Amino acid sequence: MSQQRRPLIAGNWKMNGLAAAAAEEIAELRRLLKEKETPACDVLICPPATLIAALAAAARGSSIAIGGQDCHANASGAHTGDIAAEMLKDAGATHCIVGHSERRADHGETNAIVKAKAEAALRAGLTVLVCVGETLAERDGGKTLSVISDQVKNSLPQVASAATTVIAYEPVWAIGTGKTPTPEDVAAVHAHIRAELKALMNDSEAVRILYGGSVKGSNAAELMAVENVDGALVGGASLKAADFWPIIETVI
Ligand code: PGA
Repeated sequence: MSQQRRPLIAGNWKMNGLAAAAAEEIAELRRLLKEKETPACDVLICPPATLIAALAAAARGSSIAIGGQDCHANASGAHTGDIAAEMLKDAGATHCIVGHSERRADHGETNAIVKAKAEAALRAGLTVLVCVGETLAERDGGKTLSVISDQVKNSLPQVASAATTVIAYEPVWAIGTGKTPTPEDVAAVHAHIRAELKALMNDSEAVRILYGGSVKGSNAAELMAVENVDGALVGGASLKAADFWPIIETVI
């Protein structure tokens, strides 16, 4: 954690959430946040696209931001089932995740595709969260840092800046498994990402680098204390305000 970078705790709901229960979770999060007069962190929820408009309305006037989980690279056109970044923005989103490993694996998204999507998010005026992370085979093969370098260099838009771009380091093998890297391993990858960013951006020191993968209330404090960890991208433990709040509390 650093003084100069405001932490961001982001929830990725993935393909979970129906309207009634989702609105209740946002209301509960609002209530908890209100108890802190000036929260010392940013809070983001990325629900399924079907819930963005409703949750953006439910979060209005609070410090909770709403984001998408993916976007198409184009602003409009014949792309059945896809959603443009401009549409996310129109529905009330202020952020968008791109390059999540589930998208990279399930939808064959390459670094070039992720970069085009990140550019689209920025074009639409959204803050983009670009995800990177190695698989278990890559880690076991000693390739973690080279894979991360490749993803950072080739997934980030040229126009990325600290104000509009966040990196999320999510080791694929830690997502939804209950396993996490050691704080030393997290520190090594985050320092490596920071060094890569230096070569790509003028304001690299101000870019927030989130850790993601099995973050929960019981391990968040340890992970958030690691140098160059500026927040978390949380899957399973973000679905219920009661589970998400203890993670927020570690940086608030
Ligand atoms: P998890 O997911 O917290 O359930 O491991 C993290 C993510 O995929 O963003």
